Amino acid sequence: MYLFKTKNDLNAFLETYKKEGKKIGFVPTMGALHDGHLALVTKARIECDLVVASIFVNPTQFNDPKDFEKYPVTIDQDILKLESAWTDVLFLPSVSEMYPEGINAPHQVYDFGYLETVLEGAYRPGHFQGVGMIVHKLLDLVQPTRLYMGQKDFQQCMIIRKLLEITGMPTELVVVPTKREPNGLAMSSRNMRLSPEEKALSIALYNGLNEIKQNFNQQPISELTMLVSNNLQSIGFQVDYVSIVNSETFEVLDEKIDGKMVGLIAAKIGEIRLIDNMYLN
Ligand code: PAF
Repeated sequence: MYLFKTKNDLNAFLETYKKEGKKIGFVPTMGALHDGHLALVTKARIECDLVVASIFVNPTQFNDPKDFEKYPVTIDQDILKLESAWTDVLFLPSVSEMYPEGINAPHQVYDFGYLETVLEGAYRPGHFQGVGMIVHKLLDLVQPTRLYMGQKDFQQCMIIRKLLEITGMPTELVVVPTKREPNGLAMSSRNMRLSPEEKALSIALYNGLNEIKQNFNQQPISELTMLVSNNLQSIGFQVDYVSIVNSETFEVLDEKIDGKMVGLIAAKIGEIRLIDNMYLN
C-alpha cells in the first residue's frame, strides 16, 4: 500500500490513473477503523481499479471540542487493516495540509437546505458544513469514480448526495449497509470508548429499531417512537431523537407514507453519543 501525506504527492501518483480513465474508488474515514470501514474498502476493491482510502480526523466537523480531543486514534492498526483489505493508497494528511488557510478561515457555505436543519443537523450545529468542507476538498483531490460511505451515517450520506449535486462532481455515491457486532450493535469508531457495561446496554438502539420495525403496521408513529425513547431513557440513555423519515426526502414523519421509511435514533450513554438507523418497509 502506498502512503501519501501531501496533496502534491497523492496528485502526482493519481495523475496516470486519471489520464488512463481507471476507475478510482474512494473511502474517506477518520480512522479507528473497524469491519464497517473494511466493508467499504472491499466493495471498492471489487468495483474499481484503484482503491484510495483517507484517514483524517476533521476538526471542522466536531461541534463538541471534547469529542474531537477524545476521538480514538489507532493509526498503526488502521494501516495493517487497510493493507489486509488490499487498499492501494492511503492518504494521511495533517490538519495544515487540508486547511492551509486555517480551520477558522472563512469558507464556502453549502446550502444543504432542510437536511441540515433536522435530527443530526439540529443536534450538531455546524457538523454538516464541516463534513461538506472536508469531503469537497478530498473529492477535488482524488476525483474518484465512486465514493463509498456507510448507511450507519444515513443523514451524512444524504448530505454528500446533495454536495455532489451542488458541486456538479461526477462521482457516484455508493452507500454500503451497516456492519453490526454479533449482538446487533452498529459498528462505530466511538464504540471503542464504551465501557463493557455501556457496550452491553448499547444494543438497545438496535433492539429499539427492530421493535419499531416489527410493530410498524400496528401502531402509529408517535406511539412507536415514544415507547422506544422511554425504554432507552429507562436504562440510562439521554435520547436526542427517535424519529422516522421519508428515505428519499428525509422529511421527518408524523404519519406513515406510501414510500420507503427509515427509523433513526441518536442517544448518549455516559460520554458517548451513538446513532443507528434501519429501513422499516
Ligand atoms: O464519516 C466519517 O468518518 C466522516 O464524517 C468523513 C466522511 C470521513 C468526513 O470527515
